[in-house]
Amino acid sequence: MKKDQEIFNLIKKEDKRQRYGIELIASENFVSSDVMSAMGSCLTNKYAEGYPRKRYYGGCEVVDEIEEIAINRAKKLFGVEYVNVQPHSGSQANAAVMLACLNAGDKILGFNLSHGGHLTHGSPVNFSGKLYENAFYNVEENTGLVDYNKIEDIAIKEKPQMIICGASAYSQDWNYEYFRKIADKVGAILLADISHPSGLIAAKLLNDPAPYCDIITTTTHKTLRGPRGGMIMMGKDFENPWNSKSPKGNIKKMSTILNSGVFPGSQGGPLEHIIAAKAVAFREALNPKFKEYAKQIMKNAKIMSNCFMEKGYKIISGGTENHCMLIDLRNKGITGKEAEKSLGNADITVNKNMVPFDTTSPFITSGMRLGTPAITTRGITEKEIPKMVNLIDKVISNHENKDVIMDVKYHVNNLMKEFPIYSY
Ligand SMILES: Cc1ncc(COP(=O)(O)O)c(C=O)c1O
Repeated sequence: MKKDQEIFNLIKKEDKRQRYGIELIASENFVSSDVMSAMGSCLTNKYAEGYPRKRYYGGCEVVDEIEEIAINRAKKLFGVEYVNVQPHSGSQANAAVMLACLNAGDKILGFNLSHGGHLTHGSPVNFSGKLYENAFYNVEENTGLVDYNKIEDIAIKEKPQMIICGASAYSQDWNYEYFRKIADKVGAILLADISHPSGLIAAKLLNDPAPYCDIITTTTHKTLRGPRGGMIMMGKDFENPWNSKSPKGNIKKMSTILNSGVFPGSQGGPLEHIIAAKAVAFREALNPKFKEYAKQIMKNAKIMSNCFMEKGYKIISGGTENHCMLIDLRNKGITGKEAEKSLGNADITVNKNMVPFDTTSPFITSGMRLGTPAITTRGITEKEIPKMVNLIDKVISNHENKDVIMDVKYHVNNLMKEFPIYSY
């Protein structure tokens, strides 16, 4: 059969977009060629419902070995006792945990989506807000920071069965020890969703949730620089104090409950090609070079936020201590939607984002979220960051001027030619 030119031409077009543009979406990255090869391998042909050595299909000897290697590398990387590498995505990982640990109608206390949380932390438009009751904590209007005393008060009032710490757009580290204290006070399960900073946590540059949180979920494709996917971990396995006994009356181990929350609870066949790519990415993250990469992500982010602040931009929570920043554009006379569009015309990719106490809709927004994992993979350092911020500021300040935008695009394309993507 003839090659599908319609699709392959579009892939080429996207490849060009990625190569010549500045990628500042905080949740994106460029994987290595080994990760890419594992994803595009024959493993995609294999069905393997179940877990290594306990499958519902024949011919799983090889994928069993691959999945075991992925699990063992993740255990070593995060220093944890339990790992499930099968969730197809971060949302699937959270869904499996909730299915395993909660009953319909139980209450989740999560970080408000419009303050930096994620859809799967109880948003009414998501399964997590439709199947479960929700309660939220926020950032403070004057500081842009979460107030742990207030979270404690909300938890005492709301009595949630699950508390979630973690975010999609929060530029500060988390005090997991404090969350543990709160969860113990109200008898809640404590889930840390480290989807965004997991690469920085693996590199031991941010607080470690494993000693304090009952369960940890993450995506594998953000700062961790693996394939698009999810994962569930526990620092230590434990007997589940909240839920179901087995038919024989034995209290089940949490690992058993979580595994069945993924399969058969919420997924069918695991994506063994993606699991192989996860294993490759974990090996890369175990290499000391990854720590240098993670340090550079944070250095770039810090310098970027300082450069923006020097130009009068308001960074929520006054700066960043991880890989991302949320910029309130209300003093710049431009909405998040307009900023995303005009920067996109100059080949700079960002995403519009609600800011805390935003009065616009999620389709318009008053802010934009920026992150440095992808540009850092391409070799960008603190030397180029001020140049990038100047280019972004030029577009924001002249967003209706096509000539300025075309001039910035020219500079963006030339700059990125100096930092090739090696992975594919
Ligand atoms: C904190 C958090 N949790 C979960 C997810 C969901 O991940 P996915 O898009 O793979 O479903 C994201 C994705 O952005 C996230 O930021």
